[in-house]
Amino acid sequence: MSHLGRKILNVVPMLLVFSLGFFMGMISDSKFPNFYIPFVPPMPSPALPLPQLPVSSQSPPLQPIPPPPPSLQLQVAEVMRFLVPKSAMHNMTDEELFWWASMAPKVRSMLFHRVAKVAFLFLTRGNLPLWPLWEMFFNGHDGLYSIYVHTDPSYTGSLPEESVFYGRIIPSQKMMWGDMSLVAAERRLLANALLDLSNERFVLLSESCIPLYDFPTVHAVLTGSNTSFVDSFVNHDSEVRYNPFFADRSNITLAQWRKGTPWFEMDRALAVEVISDDTYFLAFREYCAVQPACLMDEHYIPTPLSLIGWMHNANRTLTYADWRIGEVHPQTYGRDDVTEDLIRKIRGGAGSGRNCTYNDGANGTCYLFARKFAHDALEPLFRLNPKVMGFG
Ligand SMILES: *[C@@H]1O[C@H](CO)[C@@H](O)[C@H](O)[C@H]1NC(C)=O
Ligand SMILES: *[C@@H]1O[C@H](CO)[C@@H](O)[C@H](O)[C@H]1NC(C)=O
Ligand SMILES: *[C@@H]1O[C@H](CO)[C@@H](O)[C@H](O)[C@H]1NC(C)=O
Ligand SMILES: *[C@@H]1O[C@H](CO)[C@@H](O)[C@H](O)[C@H]1NC(C)=O
Ligand SMILES: *[C@@H]1O[C@H](CO)[C@@H](O)[C@H](O)[C@H]1NC(C)=O
Ligand SMILES: *[C@@H]1O[C@H](CO)[C@@H](O)[C@H](O)[C@H]1NC(C)=O
Repeated sequence: MSHLGRKILNVVPMLLVFSLGFFMGMISDSKFPNFYIPFVPPMPSPALPLPQLPVSSQSPPLQPIPPPPPSLQLQVAEVMRFLVPKSAMHNMTDEELFWWASMAPKVRSMLFHRVAKVAFLFLTRGNLPLWPLWEMFFNGHDGLYSIYVHTDPSYTGSLPEESVFYGRIIPSQKMMWGDMSLVAAERRLLANALLDLSNERFVLLSESCIPLYDFPTVHAVLTGSNTSFVDSFVNHDSEVRYNPFFADRSNITLAQWRKGTPWFEMDRALAVEVISDDTYFLAFREYCAVQPACLMDEHYIPTPLSLIGWMHNANRTLTYADWRIGEVHPQTYGRDDVTEDLIRKIRGGAGSGRNCTYNDGANGTCYLFARKFAHDALEPLFRLNPKVMGFG
């Protein structure tokens, strides 16, 4: 063999070491999205026999790849820490974030033992006044939930390091209630939560929402359901808000127009659809740019769902709100309103006047969450907790 041939063969192991180094460098780059790091199977996989490559009798034996230097081993430990990210903060733009989040694995077998988690997406202005109640709700259920908080970007407050909300604020943008910036924030929350491959169900909550059951019940109802719970109904009354703009811009007909509360509980497949939509979202945003207070947050998700013919939806929400005739906002419950009777009534699905179907059978669970509760409702809620909701 020529002198040059030997040189090339000596260079091969070096190239392998360099490319490994390059790969580790990419992983340790802080801008590289954490979720891309390959999951390491917790169970040892059976050692596969290495394929025997035909080796010419004249060629020198290939040098074995030396073990990574200690500095590289340290980096591997560092990478492992990312599998359980401590912070929800990152430096991606919305465009980068949505692109990463829209990827769904096609191979159905899992490389790791996946326990379905519920992602709780809190859409807030700043403080979460009812956080102690939620803290009690989540207590003892690590590994079965993740929390993401979208706040006003000017918010600088924080909770103690022991709190389940600590480090869970996502990169947020200014948001106005009733316009498309609210929808943008919902989609931003969904996209951040999709980065964690274990998140299977996604619940949108506000600072005035409370849980109506203990965590195990909420987790079982959500992960055991074969539908999403996105409120969607046909609404052709005076509140229709449909505009011929939608027909001109995106062929959306009045018959396809839907309304529903934005407070959703959806599964992973639907969450990927919602954040991947770059057609209807742009049309709705264009419309709202010239129509202040367009109130499209009540139409954006339900209408595209009807357009794409999404069948796995119960068309109702699991989040209770008390709408009274003639009011523009649902009832807010304060200190004096919160009684055992009120919570029991809400749990029983008062006001719905129907049996709530679940996986096509009526089993009575109409609502898992309720709004709106004022800050001063915290004290009576705490008192009722163990008795009515079964936690704390
Ligand atoms: C974001 O970028 C800044 C400036 O490059 C850096 O200091 C910070 O650590 C980065 N944050 C994250 C979460 O990667
Ligand atoms: C409804 O179904 C869920 C999930 O199977 C279960 O956890 C819950 O206890 C059921 N509720 C009732 C009232 O039977
Ligand atoms: C609307 O329909 C027309 C005619 O079928 C089609 O050419 C156009 O691409 C559609 N536009 C959108 C945004 O779907
Ligand atoms: C939900 O609504 C759609 C129409 O928008 C309908 O096709 C579907 O059957 C409904 N699903 C249920 C469970 O009622
Ligand atoms: C709800 O379902 C139960 C059991 O199937 C039935 O006995 C009851 O009459 C139903 N209630 C209503 C309001 O439909
Ligand atoms: C959900 O499960 C029920 C009961 O197994 C089944 O009858 C129903 O068709 C399923 N619905 C969907 C949308 O897959």
